[in-house]
Amino acid sequence: MSGGKGKDMEKTFWYKDAVIYQIWPRSFKDADGDGVGDLMGVYEKLDYLKSLHVDAIWFSPLYPSPNADFGYDVADYMDISAEYGGMAAFKKVLDGAHERGIRVIMDLVVNHTSDEHPWFQASRRGEEPYKDYYIWRKPKKDGTLPNNWDSMFEGKAWQYDEVRKAYYLHIFAIKQPDLNMDNPRVRAEVKKILRFWLDMGVDGFREDVITYISKPKGLPDAPFYMPMARGIFQYNNGPHLHEYLNEFRTVLDDYDCVTIGEAPLITTKRALDFIGGKHPELDMMIPFQCMEGDCFLQDYSHHPFCLVKLKTIWQHWQKALRGKGWNLLYIENHDHPRVISRYGSEKYNTESGKALAASYLFQEGTPIVYQGQEIGMTNIYPETIDGYEDVQTINQYYHFATHKSEKKRMQRIYWGSRDSARTPVQWSDAPNAGFTTGTPWFAVNENYPQINVAAQENDPDSLLNFYREALRLRHELPVVRYGTFRQYYPLSNKLFVYERRAKRERLLVICSYSVNPVKFKAPRGYDLQKGQLLLQSHTDYIENNGFVTQPYETRVYLFRDEEKKE
Ligand code: NOJ
Repeated sequence: MSGGKGKDMEKTFWYKDAVIYQIWPRSFKDADGDGVGDLMGVYEKLDYLKSLHVDAIWFSPLYPSPNADFGYDVADYMDISAEYGGMAAFKKVLDGAHERGIRVIMDLVVNHTSDEHPWFQASRRGEEPYKDYYIWRKPKKDGTLPNNWDSMFEGKAWQYDEVRKAYYLHIFAIKQPDLNMDNPRVRAEVKKILRFWLDMGVDGFREDVITYISKPKGLPDAPFYMPMARGIFQYNNGPHLHEYLNEFRTVLDDYDCVTIGEAPLITTKRALDFIGGKHPELDMMIPFQCMEGDCFLQDYSHHPFCLVKLKTIWQHWQKALRGKGWNLLYIENHDHPRVISRYGSEKYNTESGKALAASYLFQEGTPIVYQGQEIGMTNIYPETIDGYEDVQTINQYYHFATHKSEKKRMQRIYWGSRDSARTPVQWSDAPNAGFTTGTPWFAVNENYPQINVAAQENDPDSLLNFYREALRLRHELPVVRYGTFRQYYPLSNKLFVYERRAKRERLLVICSYSVNPVKFKAPRGYDLQKGQLLLQSHTDYIENNGFVTQPYETRVYLFRDEEKKE
């Protein structure tokens, strides 16, 4: 692909024109019939991705892993899991993607490894040079844990190791010990990993919880309680974070690659510390606020969806980053329940799916589409907790609200479980949704006979074809890349209306989030009759320079302003 590498490499900022598609490999497509998605399955679907106008794939981890956190517990950073087809299959996909003009972004998970990684095995035995690769501590004098931090996934953040006779820190699962990034050898390993994949031809990294990698000196107690995340204000944005990212950049600067930092709790101001300025440390940050339209800090118990809150967040990121940093846009990934079930309506699946798509796809920034989002996949509702696989979900069930009724406990899981985003992609109405010919590793959503790719392929009004057209338009219209953002009717809890304005082009996006009719009137300066209706979910009728919306009605208009005579 263009861009090249080496000292004279010029950064092309290709990602600013790109649409990224996220693949969570276990559930994308199984080619060998073992019930687990794999890379040959991805290979089969490269033309499908091309037909969606996707420019890059971000793969959630493909590395060998015992799968305590489905790949986010890495056992070898320089190989590809045999379950996914190994390195040969990866190279085939990489080449196949590049031949189609699709770039490939890997997940870089270096806050922690798997406890089965050889580094950890050597470290627990106290062997050099791995002895200080992890964060080991003795208990406090009174025998208590080294500090009061919680693990995001499993109880306290410390696990006693019988071999080393000490505790190790694990911010995530017990099987995910945190690396000691203060050790220069560990940072050298990270740089080796970066070069290994970049030299192979990958086009960038999504960096997992990258803002957690620098722990504060002395690992101080957290002064207050935070559900599941006590300590987060201590280890997030730690003292050497920028220094370490700058060090990694010495490698990244040799390649025309993209870097995307996952950043829980990030604000726009802090985001600019990473992505702003002349020589930024990273290209884009993954914010979390856009996923909080119906919850607070991922606590789903239970704040109903509030459109005004979501719109305010979107507007804030659009305005604050304009001209200073580049936004990353998303409404789904493998860590959150399906968006139609949260912000839209399962009953009005196609309609609300279109409203959600248009709401974010025409904003300024680089959008990510998560597998299955383009066909409107929805949440699952298993009867009991046994229907889930995810360590975080299961932990939440057993540790929170245990005094409440089974029904209430399960309701909380339905609202919040990320397993809802991890069911196999629904390709057709064939058995197992065409995902596998074997037994799928995880339940297929029972709505697959209605919601699937094949059924939507040839339906011009399907959500899939709406996404296709929206993504095509994104590439075609300079206003989407360069235009300013302005919101109309910001206090409406039913309509999201925004404009992108460039030199002589204006895009007006109108999305209803209501089942009920809402009277929409074009904002001042707009004559709908003069606009070109580029995308619509229902009709094109106009009355009094406006219209009364159908459930979740969506329209995207383009206005070309005539050149003013001097
Ligand atoms: C963020 C990832 O997106 C999530 O899936 C994972 O569980 C944690 N980081 C730990 O790696």
